[in-house]
This record gives sequence, structure tokens and C-alpha cells, in this order.
Amino acid sequence: MKEAKLTLDVNEKPPVLKWIILALQHVFAMFGATILVPILVNSTAGETVLTIPVALVTSGIGTLIYILCTKGKSPVYLGSSFAFITPIAVGAAKAGIGGAMTGVMLVGLIYIVVAIIISFLGKEWLKKLLPPIVIGPMIMIIGLGLAPTAISEIGISADVTAMDYKGVIVGVFTFLVTALVMLKGKGFLKVVPFLVGMVSGYVLSVILGIVDFTPVIEAAFFSIPDFVVPFISYTPTLGAALTIAPIALVTIAEHIGDHTALSTIIGKDLLKEPGLNRTLLGDGVATFFAGLLGGPANTTYGENTSVVGMTKIASVWVIGLAAIFAICLGFLGKFTAIVSTMPTSVLGGVALLLYGFIAVNGLKTLIENRTDFSKSRNVIIASSMLVIGLGGAVINIATVTVSGMSLAAIVGILLNLLLPKDSEEAVEETTVAQAKIEKDELKVAVDSKENKKGKNKKNKENKKQDRTEKEEVVVLDHPLVEHKLSILRDKNTGTKEFRELVSELGMFLCYEAMKEAELDDIEIETPIQKIVAKRLNEDKYAFLPILRAGTGMLDGLINVIPNAKIGHIGMYRNEETLEPVRYFFKVPSDIKNREVLVLDPMLATGGSGCDAIEQLKQEGVTKIKFLCLIAAPEGVKKMQEEHPDVKIYCAALDEKLNEKGYIVPGLGDAGDRIFGTK
Ligand code: PRP
Ligand code: URA
Repeated sequence: MKEAKLTLDVNEKPPVLKWIILALQHVFAMFGATILVPILVNSTAGETVLTIPVALVTSGIGTLIYILCTKGKSPVYLGSSFAFITPIAVGAAKAGIGGAMTGVMLVGLIYIVVAIIISFLGKEWLKKLLPPIVIGPMIMIIGLGLAPTAISEIGISADVTAMDYKGVIVGVFTFLVTALVMLKGKGFLKVVPFLVGMVSGYVLSVILGIVDFTPVIEAAFFSIPDFVVPFISYTPTLGAALTIAPIALVTIAEHIGDHTALSTIIGKDLLKEPGLNRTLLGDGVATFFAGLLGGPANTTYGENTSVVGMTKIASVWVIGLAAIFAICLGFLGKFTAIVSTMPTSVLGGVALLLYGFIAVNGLKTLIENRTDFSKSRNVIIASSMLVIGLGGAVINIATVTVSGMSLAAIVGILLNLLLPKDSEEAVEETTVAQAKIEKDELKVAVDSKENKKGKNKKNKENKKQDRTEKEEVVVLDHPLVEHKLSILRDKNTGTKEFRELVSELGMFLCYEAMKEAELDDIEIETPIQKIVAKRLNEDKYAFLPILRAGTGMLDGLINVIPNAKIGHIGMYRNEETLEPVRYFFKVPSDIKNREVLVLDPMLATGGSGCDAIEQLKQEGVTKIKFLCLIAAPEGVKKMQEEHPDVKIYCAALDEKLNEKGYIVPGLGDAGDRIFGTK
């Protein structure tokens, strides 16, 4: 994972005043969305199910629980989840507040169980259970299912004579302000468009005289939130369990996505450390606790992640203080009373964007993962989920109700597991193939004659200007290389010839990679006269084959630069997960002063190459090139993203990976063919 420049690292504590200001920034970021959830649940249910003070307190306590569970290693704020607005409202209508809260607690328990399973089995099974074709439509259903609520909140009705015009004006105004902030907002403002929209709509409502301040006058300055506690306020019942709990599977996928995004921002892989099991555990215990006190299910907040990205302050101390502030706000009676006087048309204006926004995110999941809707299987899964989820399907089994949204999630998961996949579709479903990439998206330089002139010089200039810009991938373009490759790829080529070809192609790659090498002036004497000649300082280089197959290329390189030092990195791909497994590391002691050429015939998913480079960078190596015979677009993309400073040289850039992570058309298993092990 690429290191990120942070102003404050995860465990750093800022000075007091700065600490307070930064924490308040997070409170503002989470506030709009967190208070919207109880308000929208109540307006959807037509009764009070959740309250703002409890939502604020449970989000704060939940965040502190999460910080504890993740050992203070993950700067995440937990707020109320939008995914549960309809399920909680429908659940409460069916089984009362007690039933809804039992459902929320179950959601927390599901997270905890999934976290425990991940501790033992890893996370690959989860990706198989919840691929984009299930998650995308589910997120769309969550957003679109709420659409009618937004329209009724704004007050738009078929009978124009019955329309509350002031309300509609406020709703449209709120919508426009929110959209404008989204579009044109700069800095922190861009992170809080819903909050700005709500405040603006509220101010206009006060001006138009449609706010009733009686609850504010009647409210105490401090008051204890109306916690709803099992066995005191209600007897737990499973009547709404199947309406609410299955949505947990969707929000678990959201949890993984959020943590992946935050990992990139802070340059630390949170799914590895503290680990997905711990982050899920934190989210799960927090959600269980929220249900226990009568609050909505929690989720990691994108708004707060954006604040971390914007400020580069990843301190959990800041997040922790924001959580304490949120808890305190929940006890300020006058404050929560003001918030509760917000006219529904203001909420409608925000919801008009928000619900569509959620639905569009579902669409984005499908597009970004290149879900192919020319495949009947994908069409069947998405269409049945959308119709069941939005069509109002409800099933009553004894006292238990399964409503549309949950039913859609269950149906989607089952269809995805049961519907047959043809071989091509199977490729689409695998994680490797999710990154199906067109070659022209990559920065490719074919080493053809036309491209050669001035390119190296230009590259060097560009590199000086911008170190973060992706290095291109250089593809050898030469009839001799094509010729050798055609023999190499041929499955009838025997081990001896294969080994010789790998070595020869290694030499060609070395020739190309050394094009930018700097030469020293050296005085020599030819049989005719003295001259100043150019000579390579071979002591500046090291070759690093990735075991096993990389050693096949080594001879070719040693032939031309015999004095380069040689290190070895041992790793193999786990056949199931395709993740690299390290088993050996031995490099020259002065490696960090050398330019290192990493050798591996195959760049497939890019896992092995990227991990090898990561290890070298940890040793302090700064100049690295990656030489391979055949690259897949997926591997090139990963390498360019994780190590944009590393230039890739390959003899061929192939089409794609297959379902087993092999390069297509490729040459099969390079290691086995070099060493004759299969
Ligand atoms: C092959 C190859 C690379 C790796 C490429 O090695 O030599 O090291 O797979 O795949 P990736 O880009 O998806 O990580 P393998 O794991 O088969 O080990 P071997 O060299 O011992 O055969
Ligand atoms: N490793 C290989 O040896 N071949 C491939 O096609 C992919 C990974």
C-alpha cells in the first residue's frame, strides 16, 4: 500500500485547541446525516420510532466502542445508517419499537458472527457471497425505495389546490442549495452539503413563518434522552427480524468498501491491520449497543472519511473527541428540540437528492465493476431483485415478516449462488476479473521506432516534474521478440527450449530497461589511439528475481551486466485467493544504493510483483524497474496504482486473466514450464 503523507498520524494527539476544532469539524460532518435518520424513519413510519438524542448518543458511544475494538488503529466515525430507514420503519409498523430494536441488535450480532468467521476463514468467501451484481441492485433498492417519502415530504401532490406552497418553496430551495454546494462547494463545505442545505432551508422556513417553536420553549436545557431498553421498555420479539437483519449483508459490503477507501487515504491497509475481523467487530458491537439503547444501526461515515482525506488528519484522538461531543449534544434538550422543529419540507428537499444519491451509488457499483448486462444471468439477478425490492413484496411466515428490501437481498444472494455460470461469466465473477481492464486505459508505450525518438529525454523531464505520475509500461515491439514469444507460448515447446527463450527474452528486456542508464566517462586506449569512452558502472545495479520463475530470466541479464549484485525474493501465489505468500528474502546489504531490476516472467494479478516491490521499498530502495515477459492489464493497473514510480518492461501485454488468474493467452505456468515440474 502506498504511503500517505499525513499531517497527524493515527495515534498522534493534537494540542488541545486544535484538537477541539478538528473534532468539531467531524461533528459537523456527521451531524446532518445522523439526525436525518431518526427524522426520516419517523416520517416513513408515521409514528415516533427513533429520537434524535438517542441517535446522537448511540453514534458517539458506537464510535468509542469501534475505536476500542480496533485498538485505536482505525480513524473511523460511526453514524446512523441510511440503509435501515425503511427496514426499521416497516419493522416497527409490523412488530412495534421492540421488534425493530431487536432487529437492529440482530444486525450487530450478524456483524460479530461474520467477524468471527473471517478470523478463521479469511474474507474471500464474503466476496463470493456478495459480488457487485448483488450489492449494486441492493443499494439501488435502498435509495429508490425511499423515493415516495421524499415526494410526500416536500408536499408535491396531484391536487394542486391542496398543495402547501410555502412548504414546496422551502423544499425546492433546500434541494437547490444542497445541489449547489455539492457542485460548487470548496473545502470543508463540499463535505457537508446536506447540513448546509438543511440549515438554509430551516432559515427560510423561519422567515416564511412555518416553524413552530413551542417544543423549543417547552424543552429543558439538559434532558436525558428517551432510551428504549429491552425488558424495561419492551419485551424483545423476532417479528421484524427478517425485515431488518438481512440488510446487514449489504452494509457489511459497504463497510469493506469504506475501509478500503480510508486505507488508501491514510496509506495503511486497515483490512490487514487491525484487520477486517476487528473493524467488523467494532461496527457490530456498536450497532448491537445502539439497538440496546433504542438507536438506529451504525455505519462508517463517508463524510468523516472525506474530512480525513481533506485534512490529512487521521488521528483517532480527534475522532474520539468528536464522539464525546456527539454524546454531549444528545443531552442538550434545547438543541435537539430546535432540530426537531425542522419542517418536513426541508427534509424532503434534502431527501430528493439523498435518496437518488444512494440509488446512483448502487449504479456506480455496477458500472465500476463492469457488470456485463449482456449476460442473462446478471439481468435475471438484478431484475428480480429490483422488482421484489421496489414492488412491495411482503411475506408473512407465522409472526415473522420478510419485507421487500430484505427479500430482495435474500433472493439476490440465492440466485447468485444457484444460477449456473457459463465459463465466460465465471470469469466476470472472480475478484481478479472484476478488474477487467481495457488495455487503452493503461499508460502503454509500445517500443516502436516512431515512439523512440526523444521519448527517454521527455520521460526524464516529466519524472522530475511529477514523481507521483504513473510510469508507463514499455512493451517491446520487435520482430525477433514476437518470433521468440511465439515459440515460448507454444504448449509443445519443451523445457530446454523454453528455459533458453526465457533467458534470451530476459536479455532483450534488460537491453531496453538500460536505455536510460547513465554512463561514466572513462579514458581508454584502442589499438589505434586514446579516447574518452562511456562505461556503465555495473556496481550501481542489482537484479532481483522473484522465486522460482524469475530465476529463469536471470542468466540473460547476467550475460550482459555480469557485475550486478543479485538478491532473491521467494513467494508463490495462493491458488485459491491468488494472494502472494512470502517465503524468502535475501538481498545485497547495500541494496538501497542500487537501481534494482525486479524479474518475473509473469505479471498476472500483480500481487507478487507489487508485494516484492513493497518489500524492496521497505529496505530503502528508491529506483526500481519491473521486467516481465508477459503482463496482464489487471497486473499493470495494480502496479501503476500501487507503485506509480516503477516502470514496467514487458515483451507482451496480453488480453486478460482467466477465472484461475492465469494470463490469456499467456504461456501457462511459467515456473512449471521452466523447471519441468508439471
Ligand atoms: C507465478 C509467477 C509470478 C506470479 C504472478 O509464480 O512467476 O511470480 O505467479 O502472478 P500474480 O501477478 O498474480 O501474483 P507462482 O506463484 O506460480 O510461483 P513459482 O514461480 O514458484 O511457479
Ligand atoms: N503465473 C504464471 O506462471 N502464469 C500465469 O499465467 C499467471 C501467473
